[in-house]
Amino acid sequence: MVAARTTVNGKATPISPAAPHTSVLDFLRERGLTGSKEGCAEGECGACSILVARPGVNKPTDWVAVNACLVPAAALDGQEIVTSEGLATAGEPGTPPTLHQVQEEMALRGGSQCGYCTPGFVCSMAAEYYRPDRCAVADANVADSDTADSDAAGRDAACTTDAEHGPNGFDLHSLSGNLCRCTGYRPIRDAAFALGAPAEDDPLAQRREQAPPEPVATAYAQDDSVFLRPGTLAETLRVLRERPDAVVVAGSTDWGVEVNIRSRRADCVVAVDRLPELRGLRVESDHVEVGAALTLTEIERRLDGRVPLLAQLFPQFASRLIRNSATLGGNLGTGSPIGDSPPVLLALEASVVLADADGEREVPLADYFTGYRQSVRRPGELIRAVRIPLPLAPVAAFHKIAKRRFDDISSVAVAFALDIEDGFVRKARIGLGGVAATPVRALATEAALEGKPWAAETAEAAAQVLRAQGTPMNDHRASADYRSAMLGQSLLKLYAETTEAVSS
Ligand code: FES
Ligand code: FES
Repeated sequence: MVAARTTVNGKATPISPAAPHTSVLDFLRERGLTGSKEGCAEGECGACSILVARPGVNKPTDWVAVNACLVPAAALDGQEIVTSEGLATAGEPGTPPTLHQVQEEMALRGGSQCGYCTPGFVCSMAAEYYRPDRCAVADANVADSDTADSDAAGRDAACTTDAEHGPNGFDLHSLSGNLCRCTGYRPIRDAAFALGAPAEDDPLAQRREQAPPEPVATAYAQDDSVFLRPGTLAETLRVLRERPDAVVVAGSTDWGVEVNIRSRRADCVVAVDRLPELRGLRVESDHVEVGAALTLTEIERRLDGRVPLLAQLFPQFASRLIRNSATLGGNLGTGSPIGDSPPVLLALEASVVLADADGEREVPLADYFTGYRQSVRRPGELIRAVRIPLPLAPVAAFHKIAKRRFDDISSVAVAFALDIEDGFVRKARIGLGGVAATPVRALATEAALEGKPWAAETAEAAAQVLRAQGTPMNDHRASADYRSAMLGQSLLKLYAETTEAVSS
């Protein structure tokens, strides 16, 4: 096997002597690329952001921003990375490099003070700059702080501009995982909204037209630990049978936190994020099958609203940086009672396709969780896909109650999928997170709704039932009383929203 190496700013770089658990961030900084910073080491600040070349949604290759603090360097064997240093173009010896457009706009518009967060912002901004379906703009200098929200001349007619989307199509949510402590966000927004389109000879824009780096089978060992990326699903399942102690990772957004904050180490880590069998997305006549290792960003863009409840979930799930790596398989695999996808998938009556060396079995998600961070998944089994039955219930809502609107952990999460016909609730499915040791269905509330008229009295009575569901606890995020109150409120909110929609 060829020695593990990754391409950093166009230069092949051996991963050795990094340990198998060494993050990309530490790997880069130890090689002198100190632009990316460590702020939190748990995926919450974006100071470590870098760009990686990934299979594209609209073009062969996308430049995707990820948290370098969470990903092991060994996971990028055979891949391509661009850091904030690599965005600038080197000048003649003795002359300074030419800044990339995002760097120049950040400098011009005062988007940086202490500069600690700036390379991370620049990388997230560059990923959005290169997003192929961002609206093209004819005039590269349309926006400044006074005109950013105006209807700028020359922009593509299909662009929508609002407080969170610039006249150049820039989606500010692409920066939702980047924190700045001293500049304030307005100058950063000004820089983002001032960006034009990449020039035709821009090397990173051109790179999007070529095939993405192929996944590389990796066995990167040091001392007593090994990072494995088997080349096929069959080989992966064989490894998992032999090494049931192995930690399975896709985007490493959970395991990376364990490594950095809790100093956990594993003898064997197995990466599954590039296995083709885990990366399919198929819409059949009676179900949608979503590969367990597709990132949430890929699912969001490929489904494009086809499953409205998932479309409501995605913007509320962590940040764009995390969604660029996190997967449904990972969110279910960790078994967290406060993961955001399980309530939604429970309401959608999804099932989990589990694979091992002997074959596959399909388990309804409602039967999947068995206890705090426990499930029916056996040692050696892998989540291959999630299946969502069709047709979908017409009334759907996901309410996440958290202290911040974005990039936060739920205090309570509630997902509703209701079939309301002729004013009666024919079927109700409600998934809850944050109110028990596992994500749960609100079965008593579902029973209180089904067969009843969708009316204020029904909603009030069912909200009363919902308040008593689960066994919420007091912790630093919320009190048990608050959590119960929010459950009931959530149903009343849904009722108000649906009846407003009917009457408007
Ligand atoms: Fe904060 Fe990586 S260091 S997200
Ligand atoms: Fe200081 Fe952002 S410029 S933290």
